[in-house]
Amino acid sequence: MNIPTKKLKNGFELPELGLGTLQMGGREEANSQNDEKDIVGIRAAIEMGITHIDTAESYGNGHAEELVGEAIQGMNRKKLFITSKVSGWNQEHEKVLQSCKTSLKHLRTDYLDLYLLHEFPPDYPLEHAVQALERLVDDGLVKHIGVSNFGVAHLKEAQSYTKHHIVCNQVHYNLQVREVEQKGFLEYCQKNDILLVAYRPVQKGKLLENVPKIMEEMCVKYQKTPAQIAINWLMAQQNVVTLMKTSDPAHLKENLGAVGWYLTEGDVELLRKEYPDQVAISDVCPLG
Ligand SMILES: NC(=O)c1ccc[n+]([C@@H]2O[C@H](COP(=O)([O-])OP(=O)(O)OC[C@H]3O[C@@H](n4cnc5c(N)ncnc54)[C@H](OP(=O)(O)O)[C@@H]3O)[C@@H](O)[C@H]2O)c1
Repeated sequence: MNIPTKKLKNGFELPELGLGTLQMGGREEANSQNDEKDIVGIRAAIEMGITHIDTAESYGNGHAEELVGEAIQGMNRKKLFITSKVSGWNQEHEKVLQSCKTSLKHLRTDYLDLYLLHEFPPDYPLEHAVQALERLVDDGLVKHIGVSNFGVAHLKEAQSYTKHHIVCNQVHYNLQVREVEQKGFLEYCQKNDILLVAYRPVQKGKLLENVPKIMEEMCVKYQKTPAQIAINWLMAQQNVVTLMKTSDPAHLKENLGAVGWYLTEGDVELLRKEYPDQVAISDVCPLG
């Protein structure tokens, strides 16, 4: 399956749907219990057309990156797009450089397609962290840079410290969690040529339980499942791409059914307005 991309004016593009790896390889600490299932899951996703794999140094304390590294052995690296992230506590200039090198080692690759500041640095000057990202691009270890969980003001500040275009902000956004709309971030991305990478598209499965009437109606109208409608609602929006995590072959197949068609603009807006129980602030990481 060929997954369509969203493209910026400078040519940077991301597939509308990518694979997340949160909770593969453990949570805060490495856990190898499900390694085989996760590796098989990553390979299956790639075989079915996924090219964007999202991971982070903090996922399973680096073990998620190791699982991605193992899964992609023998594959054509150039056909893959790998994103990783440096944690807030490592955003001192030298630590960013070191974190990136460790991530490359875990992933068994010599470059990252995209490297993100995982959050606004809590303890260090943003300028130093961004300059470290710039250095990584200039040294060829990273192709593109971005941020995650940043608000508009912090994103503007980050951009002011580098000559490289900050291509994306990875944020919590789905039918229920609407902070990026409330705070004008979605509009900002659309007007300023930045991709909004929406994480947690099915709210970890919560959006698929006890589905509201409006979702039932959309499922009937489009002959799709709630997961497919929830994922497509993001992909159908200008400048928005998304990441789903699954290690389950049936869920993978189902989620890929969100690709290759779009909700009408009218239905995107109807869901935006009428989907019940919306929340204005992320329960994962409010925009900094
Ligand atoms: N930048 C950040 O701060 C940040 C924060 C959170 C997430 N992320 C990234 O975004 C990715 C996606 O977000 P997420 O993992 O938090 O949430 P998600 O993709 O909304 O949900 C993943 C969970 O939903 C289940 N699931 C997926 N598809 C399903 C389906 N069709 N039917 C039933 N259950 C399904 C998965 O279980 P199975 O594996 O059993 O399918 C998994 O437990 C992450 O993996 C990570 O890469 C980034």
